[in-house]
Amino acid sequence: MSDIQRIGVLTGGGDCPGLNAVIRAVTKTAILEHGLEVVGIADGFLGLVENRTRPLTEADVSGILTRGGTILGSNNKCNPRKFAQVNEDGSYEIIDVTDRCMATIEAHQLDALVVIGGDGTMACAKNFTDLGVNCIGVPKTIDNDLVGTDVTFGFATAVATATRAIDQIHDTAASHHRAMVVEVMGRNAGWIALHAGMASGSDIILLPEIPFELGRVCEVVRQRRESGKGCSIICISEGAKEIGGEQVVKRFDPTSPDPVRLGGIGRLLTEQVEAETKIETRNTVLGYTQRGGTPVPEDRLLGTQFGHKAIEVLLSGQKNRLIVMHGREVTHAPLEAAAGKQRTVPLDYPMLAAARAVGTSFGV
Ligand code: F6P
Repeated sequence: MSDIQRIGVLTGGGDCPGLNAVIRAVTKTAILEHGLEVVGIADGFLGLVENRTRPLTEADVSGILTRGGTILGSNNKCNPRKFAQVNEDGSYEIIDVTDRCMATIEAHQLDALVVIGGDGTMACAKNFTDLGVNCIGVPKTIDNDLVGTDVTFGFATAVATATRAIDQIHDTAASHHRAMVVEVMGRNAGWIALHAGMASGSDIILLPEIPFELGRVCEVVRQRRESGKGCSIICISEGAKEIGGEQVVKRFDPTSPDPVRLGGIGRLLTEQVEAETKIETRNTVLGYTQRGGTPVPEDRLLGTQFGHKAIEVLLSGQKNRLIVMHGREVTHAPLEAAAGKQRTVPLDYPMLAAARAVGTSFGV
């Protein structure tokens, strides 16, 4: 018999399709199967800092399975251990507000937290497990870069969105005989670029894991034109860079626990390819279209299984676990396995060989 009666649930980091599926499964499993009370925490760890919570009932989570975003709100700037207290004049100081979070946890008599997020959120959760708060992590991110799980929910939807967008861009590329550069998200991991690039039949796929040669990219574009193929599609990850070059940083926010915002490599490459090849080249940044929208069935199913498993693991008496997918099995691993680490595409990932076999260039 477990002594858990009331749990808190929060969504941290960037939003992602499937978050509501997890919130729904956590809440329904907790209430319907086990008679627990569920408290929703607003805007990730910020809600714990500011004591913003609300009870979650079965009715609150009814009808949300198909909705993108998160009904709880999220935040990817709040690490309670290094909280940026911004003053009126715009200056800020970094302070530790863990005690405020602990006060919220005590005030609502939360026996455990279900923490839905990526590596940054798990790193924040680790601080609380060190203080004796039982946290069960659920791995979320469109980037698919969490260590410890084969897959995160949100990734499949992001790949579907990016693939659909590239398919549409292909039409204009073919009609106007252009080279088209499409920049996708993923931070330092090329999972979205690789999967969407392959699914859309992109001619060149550029990943952070395989630095590219500009000369080789231009050569492929030129060769395609000379062989009678009118257009070229280049799918580039926001974290990709030239051999010996640097990633392109869109913004640096020192108040954020994840201060580097990547973006802009697609535009740079577009200018370079056009200047070098004299072939008309256009740039599209898919941006936040990849984070929103209704989750594909795969993410709804993954989110539902992860949410259900989180409650089952909690009530089996286990502490500080991360719900993960290994092969086809939903299981669990130590939470700290995922904290603050990133899983990139391995160079022996079989899909790379399949891509090369069908003539895809990685720009080297
Ligand atoms: O981690 C998800 C992600 O969408 C990345 O792919 C991207 O680099 C980053 O978040 C963007 O974050 P923000 O919402 O702060 O712009």
